[in-house]
Amino acid sequence: MGFYFVAVGSAFGLGNLWRFPFIVSVNGGGAFLFVYIFAALLVGMPLLVGEFMLGKVMGKSSTAALNIRSWRLVSRFAGALCLIVLAYYAVISSWVLHFVMQLSVRSLEFGQIDPKVILEALRQNGLLQVALVSVHLLITTLVVLKGIELGLEKWVSYIMLIFVVLLIFLLVHTLSLPSAGAALRYLFYPDFTKLGWPSLMHALGHVFFTLSLGFGTMVTFGSYLRQEELLPMAAFRVTLLDLLVSIAAGLLVFPVLLGDPNVQAGPEILFQSMPVLFQQTRHGSLFGIAFFLCAYLGALAASIGLFETIVSNQMDQLGISRTRACWRGFLVGLGLAIVPSIVSLEFRWQQWRGQDVLRTIDDILVNWLLPLSVLAFCLHIAYCLPKSSQQKEFSYEPSALTLFGHWRFALRLLVPALILIALGLQIWGCL
Ligand code: TRP
Repeated sequence: MGFYFVAVGSAFGLGNLWRFPFIVSVNGGGAFLFVYIFAALLVGMPLLVGEFMLGKVMGKSSTAALNIRSWRLVSRFAGALCLIVLAYYAVISSWVLHFVMQLSVRSLEFGQIDPKVILEALRQNGLLQVALVSVHLLITTLVVLKGIELGLEKWVSYIMLIFVVLLIFLLVHTLSLPSAGAALRYLFYPDFTKLGWPSLMHALGHVFFTLSLGFGTMVTFGSYLRQEELLPMAAFRVTLLDLLVSIAAGLLVFPVLLGDPNVQAGPEILFQSMPVLFQQTRHGSLFGIAFFLCAYLGALAASIGLFETIVSNQMDQLGISRTRACWRGFLVGLGLAIVPSIVSLEFRWQQWRGQDVLRTIDDILVNWLLPLSVLAFCLHIAYCLPKSSQQKEFSYEPSALTLFGHWRFALRLLVPALILIALGLQIWGCL
């Protein structure tokens, strides 16, 4: 259980709840979902098997895994990416935290909740933004420092259970809205004319982000796997669960988007649409607080996964103690998080190729840097691990031999080719 716990815990998070509806909405709906599901199964799953395998082979954290110079470069790059994503993630987590607090206060006052006003209040107040980011990073640091002793993992499983029940309840509600039919058509009817040049990369980038691929995290967690565990099965379960939660988030958000002209596609879609939904529900403010609280705990679990990767890499690379690595991580993370907070404030209305600053940062991280890191991981696993140890770790069952052949083909040819094609299309679209 321990393994599924950390692997699913770091896959599930704001990537599913916040980023998935946002990225589907800017790529036009159904056709994108279609491409995304293919990308998750054909590219994400084999890569997940590969990262788990690498961790299992070496039984140590990602930096110690392959002792060649090019690998050291890759894991440095992945480590830097972890830090930057931690900072960016902290900003969005702070929005969620802000919503939990605002919804709690306003429900006590029985006041009207206008999601736009709540979010604007935060995005115009740099000091508040930085304060919330600091609180979030501090909680993350303390949990990584002390959490294992306190047995916090046990609580996360209860929270996940509550969240699933909450999600099902809310789904019943949104699917009975008048715009539900249009939302289902929007989400599941593929209209391929809506896809653009960068859509393939957007789908792949989001698969990498949501499955935490290319960060070294899943390599570390692979080393927790028991010897007799079947890698393809483990990867399939994690991918499927992640996909289901993302689609559930889409089903929650899109009926509201299509039914309310005030809600716009883009990074703020989750924050704009969910409060609208809660206003139409009985005891909605309670559900609202519960939803954003669960979302925050999911964001916290993912931040812990990122932070743990950074800390264990630093301990390996620099030979420093856990405590020191934690506080260093905290300070650097905070320093980096101030940048997106201030930038998204100061250059709020600045546009770059039709996107605001926050979306530009997101785009550079997820659609340009992350694919490069994933490509490097993929090539190392496919070409630097000896075939015999790949086969040994893949599965002990003789019947899995054909599957092993397919996996090897995917990692050696299909996945690198698709990433390069997607990058090519994206560059073409920029010209
Ligand atoms: N997968 C997480 C999500 O969907 C975000 C994430 C990206 C992450 N990289 C990570 C979490 C590394 C833990 C570790 O929200």
